[in-house]
Amino acid sequence: MNINGQNTLACICRIDRTSNKDTKIYPLPHMYIVKDLVPDLTHFYKQYKSIEPYLQNDSPPEKGEHIQSQEDRKKLDGMYECILCACCSTSCPSYWWNQDEYLGPATLMQAYRWIADSRDSYSAHRKDKLQNSLSVYRCHTIFNCSRTCPKGLNPAQAIARIKLELATD
Ligand code: SF4
Ligand code: F3S
Repeated sequence: MNINGQNTLACICRIDRTSNKDTKIYPLPHMYIVKDLVPDLTHFYKQYKSIEPYLQNDSPPEKGEHIQSQEDRKKLDGMYECILCACCSTSCPSYWWNQDEYLGPATLMQAYRWIADSRDSYSAHRKDKLQNSLSVYRCHTIFNCSRTCPKGLNPAQAIARIKLELATD
């Protein structure tokens, strides 16, 4: 929810008990509201589903599992920790105005999480789906997303990496 102007997780947000000022609490901005402080995340989850957020690899795994080096595993750090709270996407002005077609920072970071996974062999297909004027390129590097993430993640960096890969493929 939005607490004193910042999208954050109510469960970990520090409350200043010494202040005489009122604490202002609103639902996440620019979302349809189910009731009170509860936003309707139906569209948000639909967008998440659209990036096929699961391992895809047509080759059978060696020894029953897809092996990954420690170095490749490290490439997923800072992305797999996302809890899909939507604080970042709902802080992004581009997402406010274009959320019908722009995927937004939360979904895009998860798209990149799978593009970057060495065990997944569908990265060309994944990038193909993003190669259009709206899905990614409506990000104008405003950086609200990374500033607000309560988990300290950096979706703006993941989006920049997608753009780089789309431009250099
Ligand atoms: Fe929430 Fe951060 Fe994930 Fe965005 S990147 S959905 S703010 S945990
Ligand atoms: Fe929005 Fe973050 Fe890009 S705030 S415009 S997704 S850098």
